[in-house]
Amino acid sequence: MSSQLETSISNSQLLDSVIESGMGRVFIETYGCQMNEYDSGVVRGLLNQENFTTALNPEDSDVIFLNTCAIRENAHAKIYTKLQSLGYLKKKNPNLVIGILGCMAQNLGDDLFNQDLPVDLVVGPDNYREIPNLIRSIRLGGHTSPLQLTRLSRTETYDDIEPQVINGIQAFVTIMRGCDNFCTFCVVPYTRGRERSRPVSSIVDEVKMLVDKGIKQVTLLGQNVNSYKMNEDDFASLIEALLNQTTIEKIRFSSPHPKDFPMHLIDLMSKEDRFASNIHLPLQAGSSKVLEDMNRSYTKEEYLNLVDRIRDRIPNVGITTDIIVGFPGETDEEFEETLDVVRKVRYDMAYMFKYSEREGTIAQKKLPDNVPEDLKSERLIRLVDLQTEISHELNTAKIGKEYEILVENASRKSKLDLSGRTSCGRMAVFPVPYGDYTDWIGSTVKVRITQATSATLKGIYLEGQPIEPRS
Ligand code: SAH
Ligand code: SF4
Ligand code: F3S
Repeated sequence: MSSQLETSISNSQLLDSVIESGMGRVFIETYGCQMNEYDSGVVRGLLNQENFTTALNPEDSDVIFLNTCAIRENAHAKIYTKLQSLGYLKKKNPNLVIGILGCMAQNLGDDLFNQDLPVDLVVGPDNYREIPNLIRSIRLGGHTSPLQLTRLSRTETYDDIEPQVINGIQAFVTIMRGCDNFCTFCVVPYTRGRERSRPVSSIVDEVKMLVDKGIKQVTLLGQNVNSYKMNEDDFASLIEALLNQTTIEKIRFSSPHPKDFPMHLIDLMSKEDRFASNIHLPLQAGSSKVLEDMNRSYTKEEYLNLVDRIRDRIPNVGITTDIIVGFPGETDEEFEETLDVVRKVRYDMAYMFKYSEREGTIAQKKLPDNVPEDLKSERLIRLVDLQTEISHELNTAKIGKEYEILVENASRKSKLDLSGRTSCGRMAVFPVPYGDYTDWIGSTVKVRITQATSATLKGIYLEGQPIEPRS
């Protein structure tokens, strides 16, 4: 059983005693998209203000949060499995608080309590400010039943919170929250609520603060960044403000919606080196009929025209996408149209999914999930095979070319290799030229590509900025 927390308890002495008594170590595991990564940083920021500390693993923590996703059924399934595996910690330490944050929390609410899982707290994406109070309430309020807070807000943007999202030289910055597009397959408008943008000045301040902390590259986040709107400012004027008022070296963004991609934004990308020239342009489906059923507000032809306009102005632009196969009613011919668009656009990379019906969406109410599972799988395999071939061809064509690369980190496989992205957004790996990999993080270097697979480019270092000796 659950009870809704209606009032805030604001007795900081109580919280101090919680922390002093060794209950203040918080572990957060993040699932889903980059916006959830950012939100976990917001929660860390909020808890730090209240003197909680970060735990490095669940075994050493007093509070465990799973920041969850609801986009497809398998996102839910992962959390159920994880919760079952956390049950043993709860048995070892009955004072441990386990909380579910994010989109699945919002989506399922107190249903999560009715499944015999070790859950004490369910908090939706607009209610994170209440987390310290909720923890305090569980610890000291003598609650025998779990607590839930899942009110959606039209205004919450966590504008004043300094999120702890720094990862090397790259950081995410959420510029807007929620979504008003109501694509018929998508749960996000229900889990994240109505669209709202942050003021330019607060985004500029956040980026300045990140630059002061050594960040070289920010990725601006929103469900539909090009519908950013704050008073007179749109997405392009926000970018101009960031370029003019901060010294950030690279600005990336994710994701724009193809239905409103203005020419002046394309022009800005074409002339500003600091504004990365790669675009994630979700297609979803190649058939205009399916796109209409999805409520995407563009046709196949409009999408292809947009790609032409972008390629015309930004010749070396990298384009990536998201595609769903097996949407309700998708025929073989309509699926062939998706393959046709993929052949025409030749994406650098694509995220490809089988349609997963989501409770409460327009498609779930109106369109039966009638493409059989094995046909969805077959279509996905054909699509993935085609895209892998194209990615491989495009990457192979880069062999011999030279790129300026901002070194982000060591490669995932070896500390003897560095990794970073080309301006068109492809990940490249090359051997550490000399010294230690840490000496190179944040430098912009020139790399010649020597080998390619469908996923990665390999290269050699040509030249770079002088490297400051480490102190
Ligand atoms: N706001 C972004 C998408 C966020 S969700 C945009 O509009 O582009 C990321 C991707 O998940 C979507 O682009 C879509 O391809 C996929 N997705 C969303 N709902 C889905 C569903 N019900 N089944 C399968 N894939 C889905
Ligand atoms: Fe979902 Fe569509 Fe909004 Fe993207 S634009 S979050 S796919 S409703
Ligand atoms: Fe998942 Fe929510 Fe992001 S549903 S994709 S975590 S906005």
